[in-house]
Amino acid sequence: MTLKLGVLISGRGSNLHAIVQRCTLARVSIVISNVADAGGLEIAAKNGIPHVVVDPNDFANRAAYEAKLIDIFFHYEVDLIVLAGYMKLVGKTLISAFKNQIINIHPSLLPQFKGLDAQAQALKAGAPESGCTVHIVTPQMDDGPILGQRRVSIFPDDTVESLSARILTQEHQLLPEIIDGLATAYAQL
Ligand code: GRF
Repeated sequence: MTLKLGVLISGRGSNLHAIVQRCTLARVSIVISNVADAGGLEIAAKNGIPHVVVDPNDFANRAAYEAKLIDIFFHYEVDLIVLAGYMKLVGKTLISAFKNQIINIHPSLLPQFKGLDAQAQALKAGAPESGCTVHIVTPQMDDGPILGQRRVSIFPDDTVESLSARILTQEHQLLPEIIDGLATAYAQL
């Protein structure tokens, strides 16, 4: 069975690209962006993947916005939602509709450095290492059961850019690996 993915993005979409290139047991059925000019939309288009912009500002509140996302994900019979650089908090409406079926990638070794600018936070704290984490999404930001992590060293001359690039290389391996692992697990249910 091929796992059908719904991918939520807000930006350049390099993790989306990694999923498309590397997942062998899952395929991206729909990409939704909350940002009109997100680079990831072009990646979806180039790969023939249906993609749509849903602007939260067009809705009265978050519940109504997420109800629209749910409609789209149901239409594409999505099994798993992947937050791949989706810069919005996920609310109860979406989480209840896809319980334990939403995962997120975050550029730190959670529970360290939650929230925005995780790489800058790691540098500021003088941490000797950082990395990335894939976890199940719960109502608390960057929380929820951890499915996998990759570590990288932090060097004295690192900048936010150099550290982010080192972590991103690991993100591109970790995320497809976890998704294929879930596809294997779901196939056994
Ligand atoms: C990644 O660093 C991811 O961990 C974070 O946002 C960034 C998205 O990058 N949540 P991209 O859009 O996948 O290139």
